[in-house]
This record gives sequence, C-alpha cells and structure tokens, in this order.
Amino acid sequence: MSIQWFPGHMIGARKKAAESMRMIDLVIEVLDARVPRSSCNPTFEALRRGGQKPALKVLNKSDMADPEQTRLWLQHYNAQPGVQGLAVCSKKPREVERILPACRALRPDRGRADKPLRMMILGIPNVGKSTLMNALLKRRVMHVGDEPAITKVQMLHKLGPDMTLIDTPGMSWPGMEPDTASKLAATHSIGRAAYDDEDVALSLGLTLLRRYPELLAARFGSFPRPCDEHGLLAFIATSRHMVKAGGPDLARAATVLLNDFRSGALGRISLETVDG
Ligand code: G4P
Repeated sequence: MSIQWFPGHMIGARKKAAESMRMIDLVIEVLDARVPRSSCNPTFEALRRGGQKPALKVLNKSDMADPEQTRLWLQHYNAQPGVQGLAVCSKKPREVERILPACRALRPDRGRADKPLRMMILGIPNVGKSTLMNALLKRRVMHVGDEPAITKVQMLHKLGPDMTLIDTPGMSWPGMEPDTASKLAATHSIGRAAYDDEDVALSLGLTLLRRYPELLAARFGSFPRPCDEHGLLAFIATSRHMVKAGGPDLARAATVLLNDFRSGALGRISLETVDG
C-alpha cells in the first residue's frame, strides 16, 4: 500500500521550523504514545540531533496506549543523552503541568530573565499538540479538531519572563515508508483522502491479531482461530450483520475496526514496541 501525504503548506512550514531550530535551547516533541516511532518526524529528529538540542519526548494520548509498552518507551528515551520521556494525557491539566518543570530540568543553564529558556514544540498532525498547547497556555486559543493539519502558522508564546515557546503547525514528511504511513493512517495523523480504509484496517487487523487478540475477542466476540486479517474483517462484518450483495460488507467492517481503535473502544493499544 502506498500512501503519500505532504500537503503544500507544510513545505514552507518545514523550512521555517528548520530555521527556528537553530535559535532554540530545547525541543518539545509531541508523539502519539500508540505509535512513538512512526509519529517521530525524521526530518526534525535529524536536525535536532545535528544541532545537539535536548528533547522532551511527550508520549501523548498515553491514556489510549498500552501502559506496559509506554513504560518501555519511556525507559528507551530516558537512556538517551539529552532526552527525557514523559507520558501524558493532554486532556488532564495536572499531567500537562509536569511538562515545563521537565523542560527546566533538561536545561538548568537557561530559564532566567536574562537567559530565557527558548523552546519549540513539534508534532505531526493529530498527535494532540493543540490540546497540549491549550492546556499549557491555560486558555482555549486554538481550534482542536481531529482533521489533520489545521494549525498553519508558527507562533511565539511567552510563558512568563523566563520561557518562550515557538508553536509550529503539525508537519508530515514526504517519502514516508508504507508501514509508517499505514500506522499513521490508523491513528488518523494522515488526511482521509490519502488512503483506503480497507487497506489500513487490514494492516491494523494484522497487528491486533498478533498483539491483542484478547481485546479483539472482547469487542467483537470469539472469532475462529487461526484467523488472518481478511478473516477478521469478514468476521466483524458477519457478526454485526453487515452484508452487501450477499457477502460480508468488508468496507463497513473496516470502518468499524478503525473507529473502535481510534475511539479507544477496543482498549489500550500500542501498535509499536521499542524492539519493532
Ligand atoms: P493536533 O493539534 O496535534 O492536530 O491534535 P488536536 O489537539 O487537535 O487533537 C486531536 C484529537 O486528539 C482531538 O480529538 C483531541 O481531543 C484528542 N486528544 C488530544 N490529546 C489527547 C490525549 O492525551 N488523550 C486522548 N484520549 N485524546 C487526545 P477530537 O476527537 O477531535 O476531539 P474531542 O472530541 O476528543 O475533543
């Protein structure tokens, strides 16, 4: 499956963010805790490492991710020099409150009125960056929505006398690997028009069958085993009485599986482990 999604406005935004990267002391990278590897934009990760900028890797939506996998991802980030991992749910202000102290701890040499801590926040679309920013700024200034790529302008915020934060729009990158694109389509970080629901649901189904068969059975009923991803969609269609032209309506079953994953109705799921 080939998914290409790099809307034109992201080209200018990427250039601007790359310029800003040189002027800052620390990067707050918002990742989706369900797909920490795929939701890391490799363009900015390379720039950050090249510029030796410390990073706070925020595993957002951790309320929807598998807690054990999140623990292992945090361990993985915390073992890297200049990197700190933090798992949060941006909808909980108390969890968001941990972010700025963690940033200060990463750059104790900055954060005074004469030497402000200059930060930049990055994230691909739909990882929850606007929600996090709203909580950080403690007022609802941004539109929060689940359609990727809504915020388009880079903005500088003053967080008191000793901290600044550059907000950037959600940015994807060109030439994404098919497996990465498929996971990001499942988490809805890629615009709907760029992919076919059934392809994405098949790929999601394959991962769920391998890693979370018990959650699938709890949601859809006990399916015949062994079962592959095609069998899973057919089972969901049949068990929900979705038929089309005498056969199971796989397109509708695909939508059900994707919606149940995205809403958290399937349970807490991580599609990526530290090892693969
Ligand atoms: P973005 O700026 O990175 O593009 O993402 P945005 O904040 O717009 O959030 C995208 C969706 O993810 C929103 O859902 C938002 O509520 C949800 N979200 C953000 N952070 C978290 C989190 O930590 N946990 C969970 N469970 N959801 C989160 P939505 O469906 O558009 O809106 P809503 O009905 O949830 O408000």
